[in-house]
Parts: sequence; structure tokens; C-alpha cells
Amino acid sequence: MDKFVIQGGTPLQGEIPVSGSKNSALPALAAALLTAEPVTLHRVPAVRDIRTMQRLLVDIGSKVDVAGETVRLETPAIVCPEAPYELVKTMRASSLALGPLVARCGRARVSLPGGCAIGARPINLHIFGLEQLGARINQAHGYIEAVAPEGLRGAVVYFDRITVTGTEDLMMAAVLAKGETILRNAAREPEVADLAELLVKMGARIEGAGTSTIKVEGVERLHGAEHTIIADRIEAGTFLIAGAITRGDLTVTGCVPEHVGALVSKLQQAGVGVTQPDSTRLRVQSGGRLRSVDMTTEEYPGFATDLQAQYMALMTQGDGIAIVVETIFENRFMHAQELARMGANIRLDGKQAIVAGPRELTGAGVIASDLRASASLVLGALVARGETVIDRVYHIDRGYEKIETKLARAGANIRRVE
Ligand code: EPU
Repeated sequence: MDKFVIQGGTPLQGEIPVSGSKNSALPALAAALLTAEPVTLHRVPAVRDIRTMQRLLVDIGSKVDVAGETVRLETPAIVCPEAPYELVKTMRASSLALGPLVARCGRARVSLPGGCAIGARPINLHIFGLEQLGARINQAHGYIEAVAPEGLRGAVVYFDRITVTGTEDLMMAAVLAKGETILRNAAREPEVADLAELLVKMGARIEGAGTSTIKVEGVERLHGAEHTIIADRIEAGTFLIAGAITRGDLTVTGCVPEHVGALVSKLQQAGVGVTQPDSTRLRVQSGGRLRSVDMTTEEYPGFATDLQAQYMALMTQGDGIAIVVETIFENRFMHAQELARMGANIRLDGKQAIVAGPRELTGAGVIASDLRASASLVLGALVARGETVIDRVYHIDRGYEKIETKLARAGANIRRVE
């Protein structure tokens, strides 16, 4: 198992490039199941979750060719409409195969995900939505089986709560349903809008993606298309925080500034200089005292839960008390105890973490527990005195492409050891 060894204390300088979005590429790969024609995706990040999704698609019947950041998928026929437990337990986004499979071949069998490090994360809303579109659902042996032998038909689906992959799954199911589907209380995340853009290129009729009401007019069939995945806003945000926490002068390139608006606002309130040299770059300049600023996670365009752990690392350096409230997942504070081992003063109270700073962090042995928690430990280590060893970095490899190479290029003292 790989580890990161990090010597803290170097301000990050220069430029750091952002890869394509993992959470946009995952549904885009699944969308290729909707057509027999080739779908070519550019700017697909080389991270483990993407490889897991590609493995799943190969098992289902896709031919997958990877050339650098470009992935070409072709699915002449669905051979096995199933997402097995072995894959779903390592990556919940496997449930994104559900909608496209039922839409394309009238049948899907997907393992129920089970527990997760950050919260319960059920898929009841995906299932509810498919039922509204006329699928019959059976649950047995840890699997959900959805069948719609005569095809799906359009319906109004009101989501009880906002779900990102649920919205994506239902949008993919609805594109081949008969008639009109309206998704209400839909997720407004940029990844949903990016998926809609790809589906429209494939011949789908979708309006309103990126807003809370999405209208889909079903079509007979979809065709092949070519699409470039948007920049990863969570990776961009992680690097902006890396610049801020190390009191550096760092420019994050190839990003969409609007997608990290909530974070930029918090950084500015904390006293970090953030400027936008052009439409795809953000520069953070951080020198003196950092102020503590409260933060509550929300659905987009609010502050992303996927940046909460990294923000908490930053707030260990804030002068004062910051109250960080997590509203999306029940158990997403695993990093707090590890940051505390490095010297942070964090008290947990239900959904909130009370972070008192500034505290000098010192290098320690810590364990990565999930993807974003690991990123927050890297950030803590970058500012800590002495050496930090982060174990189980396979969590970070799920969603960050060559993070150690990118950070090292900006001056960080970080290396991977086996
Ligand atoms: N929820 C339900 N029932 C459902 C679906 C969701 O109760 O059927 C609940 C969840 O338990 C959670 C809340 O609704 O409390 C929101 O979950 P959502 O469905 O939006 O999360 P997701 O679609 O499973 C995606 C990202 C996550 C990100 C969340 C929230 C992908 C592949 N994953 O997950 O990304 O945290 O949205 O923004 O897009 C990550 O990249 O580290 C990551 C966890």
C-alpha cells in the first residue's frame, strides 16, 4: 500500500493545472451505454474511480479504448446488464449504470451499495424515480432488479431531497422514455449540466439542466458523439486551499472560476487574495494572518461538501473560531481526528465541527479514510512542521490525478513510497 511522505513548510508557488472532472466523467462514461454508436470523451482524468467504471462498462458489453485523456466507448449490445457487488462496494457511482441500462435494454441488476465511510448513502431516490417512469423493481440477495419490458414512459419525478447522481441517473433513463419527463428538485451541480450537454450531442432533448427543474422529451434512439469533460472544480478548490494554507502565490489553471465561487468567497473573507487573471485561471496570494470564517455545506451553488474537509484543514490556521457545518452527509468528519493528531483543535458536535485556531500543526503518522479526507490531510501536512506520513493513499488515487506530481511542481516536498 502506497504512502505519502510530506515535509511541510514550503509556500506553494507557480502554476498548477486542473484535470477533467471525475464526477462529470463518471456519468458521461455511463451515458455511452445509451447508444450502439461510438462515444468519444476527452479530458477524462486518469484516476482509479474512472478505471473502475471502465471495468464495469467492459463487463456490461462496451469496448473501451483509452488513449491518454481520451476514452472511446462503443457498446454494440448489452451483454450483461449488471453492476456486481465487487465493483459497487468500491465505487458507489456504479449505480449510474441503472438508468442507462433500463432505458437501453429494459433490464438492470445493480448491487445495493451498503455502508460508506461518509454516510449511509442509499439509492432509494434513483429507485423511486425509475418506478415513476414505469420500471418494476425487485430487491433480493443484496441486488436491485429493475425491469421495463415495454420501455419506460415519461413522468413527473419529484425528488424528496437533492441528489446529484440520482438526477443524472434519471435524466439518462428519461432520454429514451416515451413522452415527457419532468425532474423537480433536481441537482443543479455543473456535472449535471455537463452530462446534459453530452446527451444533447447524442440526440437527446433536454431543457433546464443546471436548474432545479429539468424537462426531458424522450426520443427513439441516441447516436454517437464527442465531448470534452469540464474541469474538476473539487480538484481546483483543493489546490486553491493548498496555496492559501501554505501562504503561497499559486495560480490554478484550466479551471472554471464560477464553479468554485462559494470557496473563493470564503477565502476572500478569510483574508486570502484571490484574483482571476483570465477566464480559466485563479490566483491565490496568501501572506499574513488568516481569519476564521464559519462555513456550512450546501448543494451547488453553495459550498461543496467535497471541499469541507480541505476547508477544515485551512481553518486550523485561522485566527479565531470557525464553525463548520456538514449538511449533506451524516459522517463526513473522519479527517477531524487525524488533523487533531497533527495538533489541530477541533471539537465535533453532531453536524458541526468547532475549529479553534491558529494552531501550529506538526508532522505525524495519519491514515486516509476517504477521498476528500485524505486531501485535507495532505493540506495539513503541507503546512505542518516536520514530516507527515499519510497511509492508505489509495483513497486519494480514487479522485486526484497525480496529486503528488502536481504539488511537487509547485514546490511541495511530497513523495510517494510503496
Ligand atoms: N440520498 C438519499 N437517497 C438517494 C440518494 C441520495 O437519501 O437515493 C442522500 C445521500 O445519502 C446524501 C444526500 O442525499 O445524504 C446527497 O447525496 P447525493 O446523491 O447527491 O450524492 P451522490 O450523488 O452519491 C455525488 C458525488 C459525491 C458528492 C455528492 C454531493 C459523484 C460520483 N459523487 O454523490 O462526490 O459528495 O454528490 O455533492 O458525483 C467525492 O467525489 O468525493 C464524492 C463523494
